[in-house]
Amino acid sequence: MKVLLDGDTIQARISELANEIEADYPPGEEIHMVCVLKGGFVFMSDLVRSMSVRVTMDFIAVSSYGSGTKSSGEVRFQKDLDSSLENRHVIIVEDIVDTGLTLKYLREILRSRAPKSLRSACLLSKRSRRKVDVPVEYIGFTIEDEFVVGYGLDYAEKYRNLPHISVLQG
Ligand code: PRP
Repeated sequence: MKVLLDGDTIQARISELANEIEADYPPGEEIHMVCVLKGGFVFMSDLVRSMSVRVTMDFIAVSSYGSGTKSSGEVRFQKDLDSSLENRHVIIVEDIVDTGLTLKYLREILRSRAPKSLRSACLLSKRSRRKVDVPVEYIGFTIEDEFVVGYGLDYAEKYRNLPHISVLQG
């Protein structure tokens, strides 16, 4: 495995992202952070601890439908949110945006729940893999099309706990 982004580099970028986010919302407004499990949990944990505005959190777990419908990006909710999004500033927190299908679908579903605003924060973006145009307001790093693990990202459920992001070489 080759280290692509070490822990210090990731932490430094997350702190910049936290500042960017805080500067974008009116002072005193609460931000509701929605983490997409499983991969998003490490990024979520560091991002919220870098923020000093008032935040609340919720978690959603999704999985893709079978290969037949995967290209639609439609996802099955394995765990839905616990609380309403109505009239809240919501940020979806993801580890990676690849084709963009999952995020596009999620944004549509969450938008229908009437948040005051809806944005996305993704630690990694594989721009060259995008199949649909989906807004991602906060991106940590744009990376090449390589298989990456660590910092929440897995290969067969392994490596999520690595403090850095590595390229898994075949
Ligand atoms: C990853 C990632 C996004 C999705 C991105 O989740 O967390 O949810 O894939 O891919 P897309 O842009 O092509 O739709 P994964 O299915 O690996 O689940 P996990 O987070 O539980 O590991």
